[in-house]
Amino acid sequence: MLFGRDREREELDGLLRSARDGRSGVLVLRGEPGVGKTALLDHAVESAEGFRVARAVGVESEGELAFAALQQLCSRLPDPPDPLPDPQRDALGVAFGLTTGHSPERFLIGLAVLSVLSAAADEQPLLCVVDDAHWLDRASAQALAFVARRLLADRVALLFASRGRNGELAGLPELVVPGLGEDDARALLAATTEGALDARVRDRIVEETRGNPLALLELPRGLTPAELAVGFTPTTGLPLSGRIEDSFLRRVEELPSDTRRLLLVASADRLGDPIKVWRAAELLGIGPEAAASAADGDLLDIDTEVRFRHPLVRSAVYRSASLAERREAHQALADATDPGQDPDRRAWHTAAAAPGPDEGVASELERSAGRAQERGGVAAAAVFLERAAELTPDAERRSLRLLLAAASDLSAGANERARRLLEESVPGLVDPAARARAMRMEGAIRFADGRGSDTPALLFDAAMAVRDLDRDLARNALMQSLEAAMWAGQLATGTTLQDAAQAALELPAPPGEATVPSLLLDGYSKRLTAGYPAALDPLRHAADLYLGDVSERPVLTWDGMVWNATGELFDFERHIAVARRRVRLAREHGALSFLPLALCCLAWNERLAGRIDAAESFVSEAEEITAATGSPTMPGANEIMRLAMLAWRGREEEVRAVAPAVTAEAVARGQGLGVTLAQFCLVTLELGLGRYEEALIAARDIYEQDPLYPGSIILPDTIEAAVRCGDSDVAQAALARLSERALAGGTPWGLGLLARSRALLAPDEEAEPLYQEALEHLGRSGVTTELARARLLYGEWLRRRRRRRDARMQLRLAHDLLEATGGAAFAHRASVELMATGERARTRVAATRDDLTPQEQQVAQLAAEGESNAEIAAQLFISPHTVAYHLRKVFSKLGVTSRGQLAAAIGHHAEAVG
Ligand SMILES: Nc1ncnc2c1ncn2[C@@H]1O[C@H](COP(=O)(O)OP(=O)(O)OP(=O)(O)O)[C@@H](O)[C@H]1O
Ligand SMILES: [Mg+2]
Repeated sequence: MLFGRDREREELDGLLRSARDGRSGVLVLRGEPGVGKTALLDHAVESAEGFRVARAVGVESEGELAFAALQQLCSRLPDPPDPLPDPQRDALGVAFGLTTGHSPERFLIGLAVLSVLSAAADEQPLLCVVDDAHWLDRASAQALAFVARRLLADRVALLFASRGRNGELAGLPELVVPGLGEDDARALLAATTEGALDARVRDRIVEETRGNPLALLELPRGLTPAELAVGFTPTTGLPLSGRIEDSFLRRVEELPSDTRRLLLVASADRLGDPIKVWRAAELLGIGPEAAASAADGDLLDIDTEVRFRHPLVRSAVYRSASLAERREAHQALADATDPGQDPDRRAWHTAAAAPGPDEGVASELERSAGRAQERGGVAAAAVFLERAAELTPDAERRSLRLLLAAASDLSAGANERARRLLEESVPGLVDPAARARAMRMEGAIRFADGRGSDTPALLFDAAMAVRDLDRDLARNALMQSLEAAMWAGQLATGTTLQDAAQAALELPAPPGEATVPSLLLDGYSKRLTAGYPAALDPLRHAADLYLGDVSERPVLTWDGMVWNATGELFDFERHIAVARRRVRLAREHGALSFLPLALCCLAWNERLAGRIDAAESFVSEAEEITAATGSPTMPGANEIMRLAMLAWRGREEEVRAVAPAVTAEAVARGQGLGVTLAQFCLVTLELGLGRYEEALIAARDIYEQDPLYPGSIILPDTIEAAVRCGDSDVAQAALARLSERALAGGTPWGLGLLARSRALLAPDEEAEPLYQEALEHLGRSGVTTELARARLLYGEWLRRRRRRRDARMQLRLAHDLLEATGGAAFAHRASVELMATGERARTRVAATRDDLTPQEQQVAQLAAEGESNAEIAAQLFISPHTVAYHLRKVFSKLGVTSRGQLAAAIGHHAEAVG
């Protein structure tokens, strides 16, 4: 019977009610030990009439069993009627150790679980209850948190109980469970204490336990009737949970010795498997009668599972045992564990039983780590490796294991842990190759943290350290150093792009080698040393190899560099093809850590192509996935891309508000590229607004630094601003640079921008053919926004030559195209010019589509393309019910009643752009 808790019950009932009606909900109950979280979960389960219930419990465990809780939860659920998409099915199979395969990306597992839960809820509302979430293995917690953030329109209620904050669950709705109120606490006491209870004593107990029900139940049990009647004095200054533990402990101490040993064995096996516990007990000569007195004392029950009266009994027992006693218990449990069936648990117990370093035990643990890794349980692998390191007698080998553990933590997204392990590992590394690996790891951690200014130097030193030992490794590290230097940009300390490029030239690839990274390294280093034209061949070759790669690997480490190279070459066709491929593969494989950055790049391409709605919905998707996974792989990318959209739309106030923050963040992270890109956005804004002087100031900075890619596409903007400001020196210099690059590449995008820029600088009699040439090239380039800007410039030129009719035609075309592509500021520039010719611009009827939220737009777009709800769900990482929910809203907002009409309702808009 539950005392009090009206507020909590109401909240839980509300959650269940909404779930029953098809609105999923999540709640994390948080509170100190014994406060009554489990009791509330039980209450929810009892009130969940008509629900299917799936439960899982986090288990305190020094080691991590990857996906243990998740597997427990899913085992209670039916197989989905429709098979899961292949990557999801494979991921679950591998994660649960049922099949072997590629180690799945950590969030793909979350996605698969989302599908399983959603399918189960199709048949019957579903309540998932996860108790002791503070002990969840990290892999399970990450997956469940992902599910919790993505649920919306399913009949699912997800309840967690946790003592403290679980980092992975941060940000989910929370209900803090306090102690019982005074009246309820008194009532609970009265109902459970026998005999007389002095009112003063009662009030003291209520006050000192602060209404904690477990303390109310437990502490009086440790007191004699006399003490109860006379007065209640706390024995120690321990915190409450310590006092409850103490009280349990005093009861344990009164038990016969065999019973105490049985309790210890049971507390050492965190999985609560009764057969194993009995087998171990037998090995220790403990008979079945020991269990009876444990049950009598209301401390432990062993039937189909091993159940402690309360988790605090378990920790009291385990903590109070001596080291030797614990080892004995673990050894017995190891001996009782079948090495064939559960080698990892056995390895873990053996390790806990080891009195000191032992290579045999350590290498067994390392094998367990390998198995965890193969299942995608990278966090678990790290824990195994860390323990293996502790038990490794040889100092260097110990350091190597720590290094491996750091690598596993890094791929689990635990950068801070990775850094700690790396620091511990370094002093023991002697072998130069191992030292180089450590340096590379440090660089990789810094890179994952958001690039950073000292990263290029770290990676460069790593490369130099193995230069004569392992050329492949050295070139690889150089490539990483180059990429890091690109991100660090002007904020790089120690090593520059030039340094990495120069070193790469001195370490050529073996003849005949043509892999993507090798070609990239050659291409970039030629670009930086021998100049732009020399880089064309290797960079194009790298892009073609990447695009033609049939292995369909979800992520190529270098795909960002391939994308960047195609932009630097003004090769829009390959540029957008690379972006699309990255997104497609990341989506298909559920590589959610990589997807946001890939989406940002694609958004950039779409914005250039003039499909601003698509671009913005990709940015929204990137933002959403980042929120769902809880951590950005590339800090700052979403924010910059959002800024780019605002800048193109000419939203001055917002850009001016956001840009400084984006810049400051980038500076703080040592991410010079972020600073440059924010500045790039300002150039776009100022040019749109016709503020050429401000535009020139911002553009010149980028022009002078000449970073790869932004340094090239800033050239036409620099020229436009400089010409308008009458600064012909800068304009001519920028034109010379653009000319070299555009002519070398010979792409429509490059040639079009070149012709447009030359027209701006040309004497009157030569300008017109150049404008026309620009329109011709840009018309074929796919970069519609640049075509639109060319028309605007041409129109402005025509008007100043007083060729009113011609000017009107160009300006009208420019205006409509700019408006359709979202370039509101440039469109306004066009309409002002039009007005000067005596004509007024038509403003486009606002598309109904604008009323849709980004997610609704995505759903509508995909549905219009004929994708089913299940297909859309798999693409957007939501459940089919959530798709249906969004679609209903889309229908009502657009006033359509069927999918067929949908295409027409949003289609005209797409045509207007294309
Ligand atoms: N509102 C209540 N009325 C009566 N008894 C309660 C109430 N809440 C909890 N209890 C009892 O108090 C004890 C401790 O509660 P519970 O196990 O739910 O705590 P908990 O918050 O889950 O603790 P832990 O963090 O250690 O798991 C249990 O025996 C439970 O039955
Ligand atoms: Mg509990």
